Amino acid sequence: MANPYLEGLLAPVTEEVTVHDLPVTGRIPSGLRGRYLRIGPNPLMVEDASAYHWFLGDGMVHGIRLRDGRAEWYRNRWVRSRKVAERLGEEWPAGPVVENFDFAPNTHVLQHAGDTLALVEAGARPYRLDHELNTLGPCDFGGTLKGGYTAHPKEDPATGELHAVGYYFGWEHLEYTVRSTSGRIVRSVEIPVSDGPMVHDFALTEKYVVIYDLPITFSMALAEAGAGLPYAWNDAHPARVGVMPRDGGAADVRWIDIPPCWVFHTLNAYDDGDRVVVDLARFPSFMHGGRLEGNPAPTLDRWTIDPVAGKVVQETVDDRAQEFPRIDERLTTRRHRYGYTVGDSGVDPQGGTGLMKHDYERGTSEFRRFPDGSGVGEAVFVPSAPDSAEDDGYLMTLAFDPVRQGTDLVVIASQDFTGEPVATVHLPVRVPLGFHGSWAPDLG
Ligand SMILES: [Fe+2]
Repeated sequence: MANPYLEGLLAPVTEEVTVHDLPVTGRIPSGLRGRYLRIGPNPLMVEDASAYHWFLGDGMVHGIRLRDGRAEWYRNRWVRSRKVAERLGEEWPAGPVVENFDFAPNTHVLQHAGDTLALVEAGARPYRLDHELNTLGPCDFGGTLKGGYTAHPKEDPATGELHAVGYYFGWEHLEYTVRSTSGRIVRSVEIPVSDGPMVHDFALTEKYVVIYDLPITFSMALAEAGAGLPYAWNDAHPARVGVMPRDGGAADVRWIDIPPCWVFHTLNAYDDGDRVVVDLARFPSFMHGGRLEGNPAPTLDRWTIDPVAGKVVQETVDDRAQEFPRIDERLTTRRHRYGYTVGDSGVDPQGGTGLMKHDYERGTSEFRRFPDGSGVGEAVFVPSAPDSAEDDGYLMTLAFDPVRQGTDLVVIASQDFTGEPVATVHLPVRVPLGFHGSWAPDLG
């Protein structure tokens, strides 16, 4: 039976390739020294296509190394979970997995504390990769991570610490953690919740941790029916947002009820006097009966939270369908002016049609349209220099070239958002539409 999550731009690739000295149109800025990394589901074997769940495909990471104006290499590698390693006929690079909950992370890949981490939520441990994307093994941050982790930790640029909110259906709490620049969890808080909510992302300001407790929860009925991802919209679970002082405990969380909705991704959040401003992509609802298709489109929204009065003012900033919000991450926790999203995304399983740039100060936006069939992915912002102004840098994204039948790494000058790309790196293969990625600057 056909499955839209195994077709077209989402069809898995079957080979791992290594290619050096990639052709480039334009000029790669010489200051870009590092790896553009992107990850997504790429099932190694699908026994029953009708039962395949997009979120559960084995993770494959893709990387393009840029240095001295050259695109030195492209590599794609499956993350070696035990199952993936066995299927590839390799020895598993063993490590501390959560018992009976090993998984090849497929949701995010980033660099922190010198580690390249492939990440997934819902209970499985991160996997560490080496510089060339080989799997080093699962990790528990030196024995300090109690269970699984999250796909959306946030690095506080002021401290370099990595903040996260994890969840697991077997817990009656969420786990807020802080990973230090030495790679160990140095603070954790158990925050009680009911019904086993899915918590894909959260928000962080200089003062607060903002938690989304929304009506997608663990479903025993789906689990008993054999669903791979037993989570579904739950009308009986009240929607609320929690605001916890960063140095507080579970008893300090101020919970505020909000109308039911679903949020996958935060754009950014910051403190504005006594209020907390959170910019995010909001779905009116999601995953009824556990289904990914048929959901209403997400919009770009702003929540202004007053933790003292216990009020959340919600407004839609842009009602066009969009998802995968990102910012200049040097401003994580602080007021941003610009945000970047994928237009028409969150609706079509074959991806977005363009990138959007929002100017929150002026209240304007730009739309950069890509050719039909390019399935443009999330844009990652890379500053042109460490001390450059906000938005002075590059946006990197992967887009399929339907004429050439290969994927490009497109590098756009953020301040010339709709102009010719600064550089386009032509990969010899198609990169299946995936989830998230990062720029991992060379260390040292
Ligand atoms: Fe995500």
